[in-house]
Amino acid sequence: MSAKYHVAIAGATGAVGRMMLSILEERNFPVESLRLLASARSAGQEMSFKGESIKVQELTEDSFEGIDIALFSAGAGVSRQFAPCAVQSGAVVIDNSSAFRMDKDVPLVVPEVNAHAIRPGIIANPNCSTIQMVVALKPIHDKYRIKRIVVSTYQAVSGSGQKAIAELEQQSRDVLSGRPVKANVYPHQIAFNCLPHIDVFLDNGYTKEEMKMVNETRKILEDDSILVSPTAVRVSTFHSHSESINVETEEPVSAEDVKSLLKDSPGITVVDNPGNNEYPLAIDAEGKDNVFVGRIRDDLSNEKAINFWVVADNLRKGAALNAIQIAEQLGR
Ligand SMILES: NC(=O)c1ccc[n+]([C@@H]2O[C@H](COP(=O)([O-])OP(=O)(O)OC[C@H]3O[C@@H](n4cnc5c(N)ncnc54)[C@H](OP(=O)(O)O)[C@@H]3O)[C@@H](O)[C@H]2O)c1
Repeated sequence: MSAKYHVAIAGATGAVGRMMLSILEERNFPVESLRLLASARSAGQEMSFKGESIKVQELTEDSFEGIDIALFSAGAGVSRQFAPCAVQSGAVVIDNSSAFRMDKDVPLVVPEVNAHAIRPGIIANPNCSTIQMVVALKPIHDKYRIKRIVVSTYQAVSGSGQKAIAELEQQSRDVLSGRPVKANVYPHQIAFNCLPHIDVFLDNGYTKEEMKMVNETRKILEDDSILVSPTAVRVSTFHSHSESINVETEEPVSAEDVKSLLKDSPGITVVDNPGNNEYPLAIDAEGKDNVFVGRIRDDLSNEKAINFWVVADNLRKGAALNAIQIAEQLGR
């Protein structure tokens, strides 16, 4: 690969794709050329990169000729169909969808945790709620060995893409104006509501989103013995996912130790001054790169357990930023 890369974004017009475009620009990623791909619906649309206008092209099997890095954010079906074409053309694929995450030959990477797994071919970006959780868990696992995680998520609508952002905006206006509310993206009204339902329900009673947190966490931390008990909830925030996490460890653990451990860990900002009402907030994490951790406290019911609250911008660290951080590692 050259020092500058020919880059393609498949799904450039979506919530994650747009964020990729802006992060490539703000991090001054070494882009030699940029190809923006989406469905036929968006072909011809103009998007801007570094002051230059680029026409969106329809994604086809021939879209990846001459491309070094193909960033995919167009859904699992599109990735399954087109990522192999991109690899065939010689590109490294970094895929945001769930299509290949659990394939044994595909690395599932969060650079702060397992950058060593990166290699050419297809590299999978984990699920957004898993990414922010494992960034906070990695230093704890290294020091105390994690046995079990109980996690509840409070996930923003931007995690469901552009249409969900528009739906929360519209429903909020309708509720406040006393108009009837229509739900299209979600099975129920999301405005001023919490839905304990993200992605489809599986036979075991959990949702696909919840099982992603179980399986992806084990793969990224390279430890199949870790037990994960998840509940994933969609809430009516636009940006940033929040998570309440209880971690049980093999070694005794204390809130004070975990606080200083996390303060020195990559990609983490500790915001934990409850006396001053300071703790991580979804609206503060929006637009930021780091994972924010606070409310770090001993589990009063178990000396080998700890509680904390984790917040990150799902479109950045949960998707676009993580993918571009992987791409940045390719040249190293
Ligand atoms: N949002 C998040 O926080 C998040 C986090 C982690 C992972 N992801 C994953 O990232 C992917 C994209 O999510 P998103 O939230 O950005 O969704 P989105 O806003 O709905 O955007 C979807 C993108 O895919 C394109 N697309 C859809 N069908 C296509 C087709 N047949 N051929 C070519 N392009 C097609 C769309 O193009 P048109 O505009 O032309 O329709 C659009 O650019 C999904 O796999 C999602 O699971 C999302």
